[in-house]
Amino acid sequence: MTFEELKPKLNDILTNTSTLRDEKLQKVCHLLSDNIDYYDWVGFYFRNGDKEELILGPYVGEPTDHTVIPFGKGICGQVAVSNQNFVVADVTAQDNYIACSMTVKSEIVVPLFVDGENIGQIDIDSEVLDAFSESDERFLEFVNKEVSRLFQS
Ligand code: SME
Repeated sequence: MTFEELKPKLNDILTNTSTLRDEKLQKVCHLLSDNIDYYDWVGFYFRNGDKEELILGPYVGEPTDHTVIPFGKGICGQVAVSNQNFVVADVTAQDNYIACSMTVKSEIVVPLFVDGENIGQIDIDSEVLDAFSESDERFLEFVNKEVSRLFQS
């Protein structure tokens, strides 16, 4: 399915009034991992209150031991500090990387902003080398912008 075809389906999930926020996020993970063949692990991490650490939220894929990631550690922890997208073409070339599975070859992390504040991120792992392009960045920025509405008061 193309990114354009996924956008209305994303909207359906996020605007459903009978599901809770975490259920919506779980469905978003499923939507992406089920319909984009190189998205092998899809999950959200969120800042843990005022602490400088991320905690794992809803995800789809292999269970990971890394349910808490300190700011600055790994790709996710670096994005928590930089507020920038991080596209890793080859995870073996990264020094500051936390391996969740030996089969992962590339990764993309896109921060999630609510009213300008970085509250978390979407993290996607691929078993394909150099899987992610600028079109994934633009699409995931769109996803996060839509998701951020769930956190607006
Ligand atoms: N690889 C990430 C850790 C999270 S797992 O991919 C699920 C990182 O380096 O931060």
